[in-house]
Amino acid sequence: MLSLLLLALLARCSGVSVADPSLAEAPLDWWQNITVYQIYPRSYKDSDGDGIGDLKGITSRLEHIKDAGCGALWLSPIYASPMKDFGYDISNQTLIDPIFGNLDDFKALQKKSKELGLKLILDFVPDYSSDQHIWFKKSVKKIDPYTDYYVWHDGKIDNATGKRTPPNNWVSAFKGSAWAWNEERQQYYYHVFTVQQPDLNYRNKHLVEDMKDVLRYWLRLGVDGFRVDSIPHLFEDTRFLDEPLTHTPGLQPTDYDYTEHVFTQNLPETYDMVHQFRRVLDEFRAADNHTRLMMTEAYANISQMMGYYGTDEKPGAHFTFNFLPIMHLSRSSTAQNFSDVIFEWLDNVPKGRWSNWVFGNHDQPRVASRFGSDLADGINTLLTLLPGTAISYMGEELAMTNTFLTWNQTVDPQGLNAGPQNYSSFSRDPERTPFQWDNSTSAGFSSNPRTWLPVNPNYKTLNLAAEAAAPTSHYKVYQQLNQLRRSRTVQRGSLTVRVVSEWVLAFTRELAGEDTVLAAVNLGPSESTVDLTQHFSGLPQMATVATASVNSGLRRGDKSSPASLKLKGKATVVLTSGQVSGSS
Ligand code: NOJ
Ligand code: MG
Repeated sequence: MLSLLLLALLARCSGVSVADPSLAEAPLDWWQNITVYQIYPRSYKDSDGDGIGDLKGITSRLEHIKDAGCGALWLSPIYASPMKDFGYDISNQTLIDPIFGNLDDFKALQKKSKELGLKLILDFVPDYSSDQHIWFKKSVKKIDPYTDYYVWHDGKIDNATGKRTPPNNWVSAFKGSAWAWNEERQQYYYHVFTVQQPDLNYRNKHLVEDMKDVLRYWLRLGVDGFRVDSIPHLFEDTRFLDEPLTHTPGLQPTDYDYTEHVFTQNLPETYDMVHQFRRVLDEFRAADNHTRLMMTEAYANISQMMGYYGTDEKPGAHFTFNFLPIMHLSRSSTAQNFSDVIFEWLDNVPKGRWSNWVFGNHDQPRVASRFGSDLADGINTLLTLLPGTAISYMGEELAMTNTFLTWNQTVDPQGLNAGPQNYSSFSRDPERTPFQWDNSTSAGFSSNPRTWLPVNPNYKTLNLAAEAAAPTSHYKVYQQLNQLRRSRTVQRGSLTVRVVSEWVLAFTRELAGEDTVLAAVNLGPSESTVDLTQHFSGLPQMATVATASVNSGLRRGDKSSPASLKLKGKATVVLTSGQVSGSS
């Protein structure tokens, strides 16, 4: 009995509130209250029937992003590329790859985005180029100023055999040595990803200027910001020492996690370079007072991630992606685990800076596959209603799932390098298959029955057209969540999180004079009836359902009592103290 009481007490105290009073009235900038919609251009919409998505395709379906309730689109790379890493291997950063279209197509996309009120964000890939880039070709030939644009090294001569070996034990994130021998230059070059992606040398001032000019090129064309790729890898330690071993059982020297990346990731110089990129964006803001957004990609520890926000004197990104949910949460996580992740982020965001939430992207198994389709609405609820910018990967609004692909169907270099036995643990193809628009040929993605990656066979029933027509669907929940997101309460209200039980997580967003929003997510498989008035003060007797997961048995507009809220297994309910317009 006593232990039960203690447990109950503990559960009640584990909630934490955050209220930043400065937020209540400060004007919010365009990027702060939107959901950013990530498009993987090869897979969104194909306009010319070659089975690969393209810019005209995206333009023809921009309305969907607006209808879903998002405020910006971020395009994964659209630049000239031999496509060894499907666009992240760039041979010219200021040209559009013909697979995707041309500059006129880009301008048309941009014009329509503007008309729809959508901001346009591009991917900026500073860390490496393609080996087909003119810079690399000239670097191989030691033509200045390109001679040192990449990380070159003579390697070591093995005393016993007299043979040349790579300079050290640095491993590629895609498996094997990170050093590749170049016959022509008679030196090794460093590549953290594919062999065809030589790493650029940020200790070379000309290179730094060239990369800033890439930013300026797109900024002059009027883009609203950048997602900055692979930030931790910008600098390497110039002593070229072996990295220490992690001693993780079961790993081979060719596995990336075999070594601790103390000489190849998050070096102090990196934070200053991020600040320098930010200054370029701010040059443009200074001219017209329109913020150019910078969001950085870094899977790193919490202090390193926070470091990419920069300081007041030297600001870095507007925010660095919050990858904690991806790194630390899964379908077996408890309410306490979720609460811990939420506060690990919120408690560490530098004072006065803005939060964000990321649950999926083109590098991670789909949310519905990682957490289960029955929890997809619950995850979207956290994504959109927690304080900060929401980043959504295309298809998450439909709860699209991973597509099973055979070894023979695999094209992702990370999957291929893992080999036929292990490819499925590494390949990112399953989350990159075409967007499922409807139940026609190739899910309405392409007129071509053969697409660059096969369409998920579940497209016959799992598609946008079906979800838009159904009385309740993941898509409708997503729309309702984004609508709620536009309320002052969600934009600026305080957050209180409570661990109601092992599996039920609840939180409120509150703002003086506005309706309160209350969300409860049942992370567990069994039904649970909770008394939320025990966990939050000031809740009304009866509240209105603002949205509820498809498996909840409730619908927008229904009435429900916070004192005895019945949550089916894996169900989510969002209540408001106010009125809602329209039902379902
Ligand atoms: C980060 C991108 O998100 C990922 O898709 C890519 O494979 C790596 N950069 C390497 O290019
Ligand atoms: Mg095409």
